[in-house]
Amino acid sequence: MDIVDSPAELCAACERARRAGKRVGFVPTMGALHDGHLALVDEARRRADFVVVSIFVNPTQFGPSEDFSRYPRTFEADRARCEASGVDVVFAPAPAAMYVAGDETRVHVGETAAHLCGATRPGHFEGVCTVVAKLFALVGPSVAVFGRKDYQQFRVLSRMVEDLMLPVEVVGLATVREPDGLAMSSRNRYLSERDRARALGLARGLTRAVERFDAGERSAGKLRAVVLAEVEAIADAIDYVAVADAERVVPFADEAQIGERAVVAVAARLGATRLIDNVVLGEERGPLDEGARA
Ligand code: PAJ
Repeated sequence: MDIVDSPAELCAACERARRAGKRVGFVPTMGALHDGHLALVDEARRRADFVVVSIFVNPTQFGPSEDFSRYPRTFEADRARCEASGVDVVFAPAPAAMYVAGDETRVHVGETAAHLCGATRPGHFEGVCTVVAKLFALVGPSVAVFGRKDYQQFRVLSRMVEDLMLPVEVVGLATVREPDGLAMSSRNRYLSERDRARALGLARGLTRAVERFDAGERSAGKLRAVVLAEVEAIADAIDYVAVADAERVVPFADEAQIGERAVVAVAARLGATRLIDNVVLGEERGPLDEGARA
């Protein structure tokens, strides 16, 4: 496995692989790798012959009061996990290599990025799209694998690839969960023992929504209310609980009736830690239901 920190070297390594007839697969990450990330790597290995993982805590997707400086950086452990998973190249650049002094171009995002995390984290998706577009340009992947844990990010990036006509197949993988149902996240390591126990309220709320949906409930407001009740009981603050269109991630009004598919998404704070989770009604089981967990 090669570890590369220069964009030019990354480009050259991927070009060599393509010239040797290999199909390049790509998994962008910010490191602090867990089994959710490794499931993406396994999927990339199934779909490609040469797998690149980027580890880059991208400054442009963090707001000024967010956790950029304290985001967990665990490079040695990440390197070992990539090696054990059969990754071909790890790309771990310095911020100055990805954002050269004086740069000014950013990817402009639209409606899919406007609500939920887009509303509570202004500029976040512009930063995500900008770095992923740059990484795609360097790697030239045939396929890139993302997690549905960050459901809106997956939709925004799929939209970017379509709108900018980038020749990359975007794959979205189901959320990988801890045995008790908590969605795996690099930020889970911030949680105190008490908050780790309370965090299950997110999965509990989403599971209640799936139960109600499966029993025939189609009122957006009623589905939202069952999630809100569980999350209010455990969270210190709630960024949003939303029932949204599964394609464009536009929230339904509480009065609306949803169709056969919708995403229920939540972002809440426990202490200083912000957690997100979601489930696609009409497509996925509840996070606490048998078979949905690791
Ligand atoms: P990061 O949070 O490190 O996540 C990297 C990838 O892993 C994303 O596609 C994310 O959805 C996926 N992932 C995280 N937790 C997961 C879980 N429990 N199950 C399945 N997949 C999971 O998302 C980012 O980094 C950044 O925004 C990035 C796309 C790298 C751009 O900087």
